[in-house]
Amino acid sequence: MDTRVMSVAAADAPAFDLAAWSAAHLDRVERALERWVTADAPAGVDHGAPAELVQAMRYAVLDGGKRLRPLLVMAAWEAVSESTPAGPGQAAMTAGQLETALRAACAVELIHAYSLVHDDMPCMDNDVLRRGKPTVHVQFGEASALLAGDALQALAFELLTPDDAQIPACRQAHLCRLLARAAGSGGMAGGQAIDLASVGVALTESQLHDMHRLKTGELLQASVMMGAACGDASKQALAALHRFGAAVGLAFQVVDDILDVTADSATLGKTAGKDADQHKPTYVSVLGLERSGAYAQELLGQALQALEQSGLPNTQALQGLANMVVNRIS
Ligand code: IPE
Ligand code: IPE
Ligand code: MG
Ligand code: MG
Ligand code: MG
Repeated sequence: MDTRVMSVAAADAPAFDLAAWSAAHLDRVERALERWVTADAPAGVDHGAPAELVQAMRYAVLDGGKRLRPLLVMAAWEAVSESTPAGPGQAAMTAGQLETALRAACAVELIHAYSLVHDDMPCMDNDVLRRGKPTVHVQFGEASALLAGDALQALAFELLTPDDAQIPACRQAHLCRLLARAAGSGGMAGGQAIDLASVGVALTESQLHDMHRLKTGELLQASVMMGAACGDASKQALAALHRFGAAVGLAFQVVDDILDVTADSATLGKTAGKDADQHKPTYVSVLGLERSGAYAQELLGQALQALEQSGLPNTQALQGLANMVVNRIS
């Protein structure tokens, strides 16, 4: 896929290189996750976490995944921070914001990784392959998978609340609230409950829309809003980013449903064809493949339009990520 996209604001500016942009941020995110998902005890404490639990957590998080959510956090943060006028002390502020954005990026990925560990368990989708490896419960047992998911969720909120005053308390609280709402009963966990209750049920398009918005869309939208919360965005920009996140979040699960039918397990790194096997209602089962693809493109159009309406000058990375979500092959 061509990952070079042109800025809407400056068509004659050099093409934006999404691959190079992503590589720089992925490197930061991988190193941060490697450092933060660890058994090491904090300074002054003489014991760490049980080694096997931490091993299961690291197995779930490291060496795999597209890291789309962390990239959305970093892209949204960049989009809003570069609109901030330069002023005294801005360099220090920006370094602090980078650390905050990195924590937010990793926190969202930890919630996502925990959701995958639980999603794959026998009581949910009963999957044996994830990110090209045996699933966590296959590798470590069900109890360890359950606890690894629990511990990853807790670690996400610990990351957002460092005790060295690096992030102002009100910003910490705001980030925690955005993440908690997206992960909880009105977000991912609620959507997963609807998903399980919908096996073998013929949902209407509107019911399917609501299920996908909750189980997947909310966390992707929260990634965008958390990135924006690491900088200083206008109300207009925040409202536009909210619309962008909603469209990209839903498009992501529409495409996940399509790939379950059209891609193979080796490409996906997870078992293809599961949705039909398990009688899950999906966009493909409700709309068919062709209309699902058209709907994903329509959502991409809505996302790009929202960026144009944001008034933000630096949205190339967000544009590129939205394109990637809809036109990806895995
Ligand atoms: C898979 O998400 C689960 C869904 C929400 C559909 P991703 O496709 O982002 O999974 P990784 O992180 O790349 O493994
Ligand atoms: C899972 O949706 C969404 C989550 C909250 C984890 P799926 O069940 O379709 O995700 P995959 O296809 O197993 O990755
Ligand atoms: Mg599922
Ligand atoms: Mg699943
Ligand atoms: Mg799926």
